[in-house]
This record gives sequence, C-alpha cells and structure tokens, in this order.
Amino acid sequence: MPERALPVIAVLATGGTIAGAQPDATAAGYKAGSVGVGELLAAVPQLAAIADIRAEQVANVGSQNMTHEVWRALALRVDALCQDPSVAGIVITHGTDTLEETAYFLSLVIRHDKPIVLVGAMRPATALGAEGPANLYNAVALARHPDARGRGPLVVMNEDLHYAREIQKTAAAGLCAFASPNRGRAGVMHGGAPQFYSRNTTAHTTESEFSLALLERAGWPRVAIVYAHADLQDDLIDFLAGAADGIVLAGVGDGNATDLAIDGLLRAAASGVAVVRASRTGSGLVARDVELDDAALGFVAARDLNPQKARILLMLGLCVTRDPQALQRFFDRY
Ligand code: SIN
Repeated sequence: MPERALPVIAVLATGGTIAGAQPDATAAGYKAGSVGVGELLAAVPQLAAIADIRAEQVANVGSQNMTHEVWRALALRVDALCQDPSVAGIVITHGTDTLEETAYFLSLVIRHDKPIVLVGAMRPATALGAEGPANLYNAVALARHPDARGRGPLVVMNEDLHYAREIQKTAAAGLCAFASPNRGRAGVMHGGAPQFYSRNTTAHTTESEFSLALLERAGWPRVAIVYAHADLQDDLIDFLAGAADGIVLAGVGDGNATDLAIDGLLRAAASGVAVVRASRTGSGLVARDVELDDAALGFVAARDLNPQKARILLMLGLCVTRDPQALQRFFDRY
C-alpha cells in the first residue's frame, strides 16, 4: 500500500521563553528568544511521525517586545499560509507575556477557518524539565486535527486548550500560568488529540469585519491603557487624551475610577477620544449603564474583555467608527 502523505504544518517562530536559553539548566535567569526554530523542532523528533513541518523564523524576541510591526509580518504570513491549500494548519511559537494579545489580534484580522495554534513555555528550552517540547508536540497535533478548524486561534499550554479571546496569563511565574477566567478552558489535549468542552461563542475569523488592510488604511489608531488605583488624578488622563485616539480604563471593580479620573475621561470623550471601561480585576463582566451611565457619558463597556484585549478591539473598531454606540456593538460581539 502506498504511504499516506503527512499533513503539512507550518511552524512560525517568534521567540519567547520556549526559545529561551540560560547559562545552566537550573539557573533562574535566561534570555528569551535565543534558540532558532530549527533547534526548537530538533528537540521534538516525534513530530516527524505526525506532520510534514515547514518552519519559518518570523521574529526572535521576548514577547514583552512584541510590536505592531511583528504583528503585521505575522498576520501577512498566516494569511498567505491560510490561502495555501497544501498547508493543513499553522503553529506559532510565542513568548507567554503577550501571547494572549497576539492570539486575540489574529482572531480578528485573519478571516480563515484553518487551524491556527499558538504555543509557548514557562521554562526556557535549556531548563531541567523544559515543557516547551511537549507543548510544541501538542500544538502540532492540534493544528493537524480536524476538530481544531473553525474555532479561531487556539492556545495550547500544559495540555490545556484555550480560545484566543478567553485566555489570560494569570501568574508571573510557574507552570500553571494560564487560565480562561470567564468562560473556562476550551478543552484538553489527551494522547495527542483534542477533547473540546465548549464551542467558541464569540465572533472571530470568518465572521470578523476587521482586517490588516483596514488597520493599514487607518494607520493603526493609537490606544492607551490607564490603570485605576486609589487617588487616581486626571492630569495624566488629560495628557493621554491629547496623544491617543482611544483610552481603555483598566478600572477598579466594575470598570470604575475616582470621580476626578471619570471627569478626565468625560473630557476625553467629549473631545472625540473613544473611552472604553474594562476591569483590572482579571475576570467578571463590566456591565453597561450600571455603575456608570455609559450612554450619558459617551463611554463603552468592555464587557468581559480584559484591558489588554480591549485595547486591540478598540484599535480595530476605531478603523471603522468613533461613535460610542457603534463601538459598543463591537464589544458586544467580539
Ligand atoms: C516572553 O514573553 O517572551 C517571556 C516570557 C515567556 O515566554 O514565558
């Protein structure tokens, strides 16, 4: 019998701790983005049995240094690979610090249903017990699996599966650093196959009305995040209103802040700067028109989107409109 060809999986490397190297295998310090994609793949020879890997190095940075420039390059490459019928799925290796932002960004600008899987590691490639190779194996196994199709970008870490919109880095260190706090993880990898627990119920990819082209035309609107705290003053908000197209409030509780700060945000909104209220708490719903009268103030409620993802959706929304009600509809949908 002729041997069946293995599915082609594109692995796009961007750096991160998964590609990190340290002076010795037990050292706490290391440099993210030190190891190239060839070396990453060489650590997982088992991949040769499940996929025909096509590797590319898109960047090699610690993801604290992720930029819109890298997002542009990554989105263009992912889009091209999605259109290539010979490619079954795409894996992106990424630092864990901003992995959730890149995943959410791609979920809104890539309008294809091909499996896209992001993966990282908390331990560097050279560490004792590095989990990167197992994560990478699972990522490739997921990207070639038919159940991964049509769910938007997925993240696999520690055998857990997360939807791009839901995942959040919830711990600065340690292996269990990721969760999907509001809607729960999407599923698990078991024996190299995904078991999904839920559908992705928010709009993404093929339903998205956003695109990279839209961002390029609009010049990537600038959105700042203000982190609320006791005694937050309004002078920095006034400054940001002069420098940004939009402001996301990482508010206390239900997306709130001092009266002084809310007055500053009101002035910002009145001057045409879009204002979105999110919460710094890490989970829960910022309800519209409850703690603050968004309709009267001209604000938008982020619902259960965290501030760093609200920044991305606002940036994309501002390519289309500055009207708070129209922006709110985006936050209700994506
Ligand atoms: C990074 O985000 O590149 C550093 C941290 C990590 O990958 O765990």
